[in-house]
Amino acid sequence: MIKHKTIYACSACAAQFPKWQGQCTDCGAWNTLAEETYSNAASMKSQQSVGYSGENASKILNLADIKTEEVDRISSGLLELDRVLGGGIVKGSIILLGGDPGIGKSTLLLQSLGELSQAHKTLYITGEESLQQISMRASRLETPSSGLKVLAETQVERIIELAMKEKPTIMVIDSIQTMFTENVSSAPGSVSQVRESTAQLVRYAKQHGTAIFLVGHVTKEGTLAGPRVLEHMVDTVLYFEGDSNSRFRLVRAIKNRFGAVNELGVFAMTEKGLKEVNNPSAIFLSRESSPSPGSIIMVTWEGTRPLLVEVQALVDESHMQNPRRVTVGFDHQRLSLLLAVLHRHAGIAMHDQDVFVNIVGGLRINETAVDLAVLLAVVSSFRNKPLPEDLVVFGEVGLGGEVRPIQNGVERLKDAAKHGFKQAIIPKANMPKKPIEGMKVHGVSKIEEALEVFRG
Ligand code: TYD
Ligand code: MG
Repeated sequence: MIKHKTIYACSACAAQFPKWQGQCTDCGAWNTLAEETYSNAASMKSQQSVGYSGENASKILNLADIKTEEVDRISSGLLELDRVLGGGIVKGSIILLGGDPGIGKSTLLLQSLGELSQAHKTLYITGEESLQQISMRASRLETPSSGLKVLAETQVERIIELAMKEKPTIMVIDSIQTMFTENVSSAPGSVSQVRESTAQLVRYAKQHGTAIFLVGHVTKEGTLAGPRVLEHMVDTVLYFEGDSNSRFRLVRAIKNRFGAVNELGVFAMTEKGLKEVNNPSAIFLSRESSPSPGSIIMVTWEGTRPLLVEVQALVDESHMQNPRRVTVGFDHQRLSLLLAVLHRHAGIAMHDQDVFVNIVGGLRINETAVDLAVLLAVVSSFRNKPLPEDLVVFGEVGLGGEVRPIQNGVERLKDAAKHGFKQAIIPKANMPKKPIEGMKVHGVSKIEEALEVFRG
């Protein structure tokens, strides 16, 4: 018997409640609860397994007996996209691509699908733009489009029905927030619609081995609308990062069942679409020729490769009761922590100074290896003394003022040497066993030593 049930779901965190209330008690958001009706037919369907069916379904096996095959990967036609995917598109996988409006999600996927359409069956489904708009864009991008199939449709059941006939190898859904399923009565874009539509597409992808890209919108707060539930359901989550005013676009993998996370793909937006950037270090390094105080180069590790980035600091006399601590691309709390370490262990006080830290190029650095670079940049600005131009710095700083080792030290040094850097200040424990050609490496174990090297 089909029963209808009314629940109230939070549009921010997807928590469900039997009664309406003004505030979501799960995430604390106000006025986010919306009424949703479920029929048990739909919820039974959505609870079905979304895993692989066929002969592997519901059988208990010994893990050692399971043969592992190399996963089948298809090149997306764009090397930087292949890189973030972990080497290409895996058949039957679901990839979520999130990002701000206008950052280039539709452009990237249209370009990739155009390339793919030369050798594979592809289908681009749009719920946002008209077919004319897509056709105009494709001709502007000069992407091969003769074999590319397009469909303007928003109903998931209809999409799956048509896809079963067309049997594409790769499919794009632009965007998941515009899709709706008949199983759920709420409006497209609501949490339950997004979840149920995704569940149906996931089931289709696993059963038919079709790889599906889902485009996902991002809310004001920078999280995916139709929220985290989506990230659990898909195999891979990619995010477009970077400022839409700047030319560069970064695509980062934040979840990947088939590859490394935090892998970064770098593109530049041109009038002919997104172009891959082969030597990304160069773009983050666009420094002026004369060294300026407060600027330093660090080597960060993104996924599987090193990247040289410029860290800038500005220290200025404060006229505020609480001096300002402002960071762009770097954790704000971490800066306060580093300034406390600087005061306590090197005797340099900043309590009457405003401190600003900026990672150049719109990049966000989350690894602690940037600590030492931030500290030296701050001191350099404070003393108004530039650091040598050919110096790179990396290392984690602990609360005891100690400089702690980080991963992939030698690879980072080699990359810096390749880009012409001649000196490095790094954690002592990361000292390479063999000298790096053309580079003088200072190993330090305390922040005082690091400051000493730079003074001397
Ligand atoms: P779009 O890919 O539609 O972004 P999204 O799908 O993420 O909302 O648009 C990206 C922006 O890039 C758009 O504002 C126009 C610009 N653009 C170019 O600069 N060059 C191009 O060749 C194209 C197609 C778009
Ligand atoms: Mg779009």
